Amino acid sequence: MARTAAVVPDAAGLDELRAAAATCTGCDLYRDATQTVFGEGSERARVVVVGEQPGDQEDKTGRPFVGPAGAMLDRALRELAVDRSALYVTNAVKHFRFVRVERGKRRIHKTPSRTEVVACRPWLLAELRRVCPEYVVLLGSVATKALLGPSAKLTDLRGRLLDLDSVDGEPVPPARLLVTTHPSAILRAPDREAAYAGFLADLTVLAKALDK
Ligand code: URA
Repeated sequence: MARTAAVVPDAAGLDELRAAAATCTGCDLYRDATQTVFGEGSERARVVVVGEQPGDQEDKTGRPFVGPAGAMLDRALRELAVDRSALYVTNAVKHFRFVRVERGKRRIHKTPSRTEVVACRPWLLAELRRVCPEYVVLLGSVATKALLGPSAKLTDLRGRLLDLDSVDGEPVPPARLLVTTHPSAILRAPDREAAYAGFLADLTVLAKALDK
């Protein structure tokens, strides 16, 4: 199939968006991925959580954050008594980008390019416009740069509530934004417990804001 820019239906509900995204050929990632992994959760969620891209298990199941990174996210949410089923969880890029290793037996995550992030962004903006969350949580650098631009630095921004009302000059429903690390970075960190504590501290800012 030839590649064409993402065609996002106007004024669509999440089910309609999900169905349209299933056949997206807006970048080349659809060629090797199993399927589009669209966001999941309540259309009335107060919080949209944005990850980077689906991993191996997400690609196979078609659901975001069901693998090891999802387990790390779930652990933190549980600890903060934030109910995941009340959130809307999605990714900046909706297809798995990977390289094959061990003679093709294993698929290893490869960071999506800026071109892929920008090609996929209309879906993320459509999700934000549909859900109109009070809070948007950006997990990791790719999600942060997807919404805040290529020069945004996670380390400068993490752990405090910021304002979001436009993305690259395009208006989005106003929301408070929280940047934090990606749960996969915790799994790779030399001191996992310290990295997890930092993640939890960032998400505590969200949990407290939700309780107010
Ligand atoms: N990592 C992500 O960023 N998203 C997923 O859905 C899974 C792992």
